[in-house]
Order: sequence, then structure tokens, then C-alpha cells
Amino acid sequence: MRLQVFLSHNGVCSRREAMDVIQAGRVRVNGCMVKEPSTPVDGSEDISVDGRKILSKDYTYILLHKPAGYTTTKDDPHAPKTVMDLLPGHLRHLSPVGRLDRDTEGLLLFTNDGAWAQKLTHPKFHLDKTYHVRIAGKLKPETKRHIEAGVMLEGRKTAPCRITDVRYNGSDTGLTITIHEGRKRQVRGMFYSVDHRVIYLKRIAVGRLTLENLKTGQWRELSLKEVENL
Ligand code: URA
Repeated sequence: MRLQVFLSHNGVCSRREAMDVIQAGRVRVNGCMVKEPSTPVDGSEDISVDGRKILSKDYTYILLHKPAGYTTTKDDPHAPKTVMDLLPGHLRHLSPVGRLDRDTEGLLLFTNDGAWAQKLTHPKFHLDKTYHVRIAGKLKPETKRHIEAGVMLEGRKTAPCRITDVRYNGSDTGLTITIHEGRKRQVRGMFYSVDHRVIYLKRIAVGRLTLENLKTGQWRELSLKEVENL
């Protein structure tokens, strides 16, 4: 589809206006200014007008409250239960954005907007991810500070993070941790590196998105505003 048609097809403006908007240098495709209205696009690009991303009508964005016990994969014949089983048939063309371990609960996004998914998972975008965690034993203040400053994980130090709401109940410690990296099994690994086993892990927020009152196993579509704001 031509860029000019893409803009009108997705409700930005009329075809005639799209021509002017493009020629005025207000449109960027994958970050580069494009002034030719007939530039071919297929919707997989990151297209913005005056810095605002244009969401294709063909894109869908879903937030799922993942239960424990489901593998984050699009198709793994060896996984008995996958997160795709939690979506209805008409949403099974979507892909998970990043991953949660099988035993982790919480907020998991899905989309068919590859550019958006890539942005969200790229470390340079520093998107905060917040988890409720329960670890075995008592988290000492000096261990907390050590984790917050960064611990070695597979030969590389983790970026500074924030731990709050620490509560010890006599046998284990509940806490909230916010990280902005997305390394494999990162939260479990961080606590394991200081000899604390993670008993329970739930992602409660990604950027400004939270689970709100979505029950385990339920999903909802994100609004355009939520997609843009993330
Ligand atoms: N960190 C982990 O260790 N596991 C997850 O599922 C998410 C973050």
C-alpha cells in the first residue's frame, strides 16, 4: 500500500490531505522522514505523523492476566499448556511480547505489531516492569541494597533496580521489585544469586499498564491511548 493510502486508510486524514502532510515532512517511517506519498509500506513499519505513532487498523493489542502453569510460546509441541490456549481462536495469530516463565503469573502482552513489540522489549527503551515477589528467608537490608545496585547474572551485571514494600513474615519475604531489563529468568536469577529462592512471582505492571481488576486467565484489548502511551 502507498504511504498516502496508509494514512487515509487508518483514519489520519483524507488522501488529499495525506499528500500535503507527507510532502511537508511531517511523516516518519521507521524513524526516517519520508516525503514521497507513493512510498510503499506494508504496515509492519513504525509510521508516525508529527511524532505520533499511527496504529494500523489491522493491528491488535491484548493484555492477558497469565496464570502459572502456561508456557509463553506461540507453538511449542512439547508444552502441555501454552499462553495461546488462553486466547480465543480469532486472536491466535498474535504473538506474545517478551515472555513470562511457566511458573510466573501476571501481565503479558500480545500483538501482531512487530515494530511495537520490538520497541517494548528493546533494553534501550528502559520500560519499567514491576513484579510482586515472595522469596524464601529474610531479605537483609544490605542484600536488598546489593540487588538494587546490580548483581552478576551470566557474567553481566544487572542494571540498577528498585525494591520496595519489603515484608518479612517469620519464614519468607514479600516485596515489590521494578526492573527495566528483560533478561531471561531475570528476577529469579537476581535473588538466586544472593541465595534466596523465589517462591512466587507475579508481574503486576509494564510501564503504565497494570492488571487492574482483570482476573487470572482473563484478557482485554488495549485502547489506542494505552498503546500510544506505553
Ligand atoms: N523474571 C523472571 O525470573 N521470570 C519471569 O517470568 C519474569 C521475570
